[in-house]
Amino acid sequence: MNTAQFGKKGWTPERIKDLSVKTFVITGTTSGTGFEAARILLSKNARVVMLNRNPKKAADTIAQLKQLLGNNIDVINITMDLGVQASVKKAAAEVLEKVVRIDALMCNAAIAQVPKHTITVDGWESQMGTNYYGNFTLQALLFPLIEKSKGRIVTVGSLGYDMGIKAIKFDDLNWDKDYTPNDAYSQSKLAQIMTIYELQDRLKAAGRTDVKAYACHPGSSRTNLINTSGSFMMKMIFGLMKLSPLTQPAENGAYPELMCATEPELDQTAFYGPTGRSNWVGPVGPHELKPHAKDKMAAKRLWDLSEKETGVSWNL
Ligand SMILES: NC(=O)c1ccc[n+]([C@@H]2O[C@H](COP(=O)([O-])OP(=O)(O)OC[C@H]3O[C@@H](n4cnc5c(N)ncnc54)[C@H](OP(=O)(O)O)[C@@H]3O)[C@@H](O)[C@H]2O)c1
Repeated sequence: MNTAQFGKKGWTPERIKDLSVKTFVITGTTSGTGFEAARILLSKNARVVMLNRNPKKAADTIAQLKQLLGNNIDVINITMDLGVQASVKKAAAEVLEKVVRIDALMCNAAIAQVPKHTITVDGWESQMGTNYYGNFTLQALLFPLIEKSKGRIVTVGSLGYDMGIKAIKFDDLNWDKDYTPNDAYSQSKLAQIMTIYELQDRLKAAGRTDVKAYACHPGSSRTNLINTSGSFMMKMIFGLMKLSPLTQPAENGAYPELMCATEPELDQTAFYGPTGRSNWVGPVGPHELKPHAKDKMAAKRLWDLSEKETGVSWNL
């Protein structure tokens, strides 16, 4: 696939056909790209299961979506704190009770640029624990139903994978030494992307190719990301960036994950996002991925470590 195939505008949701009978599970829909992705899926008649940590915000989100799209939309929320393994496990069990199929699991939720070194209740640095281990467990636990549904796993990464140390810091995964918010966030997003390509390899080796796994990112989108967890300085910097053409509306930021969740005939080995200036904005399609995201030795090591750390096995 190349962007040209979708014309000058790149991939847009106009390509999504009617999604009646399809079910999408999406994390972090109370704002930003997750909200926009849920809205667009619902507007195409999909069933959407939202996984959010704050029940009040989730209820407000459903009310807002109903106001926009009407009362007949098929949407529920299941409470899940991605940064707490027990909560992820409970939510995954509830999803499996409530839905009979998953056409795509869209791993959209994340925290970013956490100013102070923080450790989760499970003992991991907060961005690694939330963005990486949370998703690792959620994906593994929902995998059997995704496989039965011949569905997809979509990881929302970040161009941050190519910032910071551009490697997995195996000797200090928790950043106990020299923590910096950006390096820790970047590592968590690199780990997320790396694991998607490792999953593809493992599925292929096991001959279990019914599930497709994709990695994408929203470029630089005007969302709440930095406002929620970033430092005062980061909020100032991103606040200024939001005024420039180097950012795009949250809706556009949702296109890559929507494409990966719905578009037939995508290349799993690609990395999807905006193809305009610096890959921050512009038409959506595949674009360059730096080789460190496919460092096979690191990916294998990280996968094995993650099964050990979380106690969750994919049984592939
Ligand atoms: N915006 C960008 O320019 C940009 C750039 C690169 C990558 N990304 C990626 O894009 C994705 C979406 O982010 P966004 O920009 O749309 O940010 P956002 O507006 O802050 O949305 C993030 C969503 O994740 C949820 N969330 C955060 N921590 C959670 C947890 N522990 N458990 C469950 N849900 C949690 C938030 O819920 P609450 O309302 O409860 O906080 C919110 O619904 C993220 O994966 C992010 O890394 C964004």
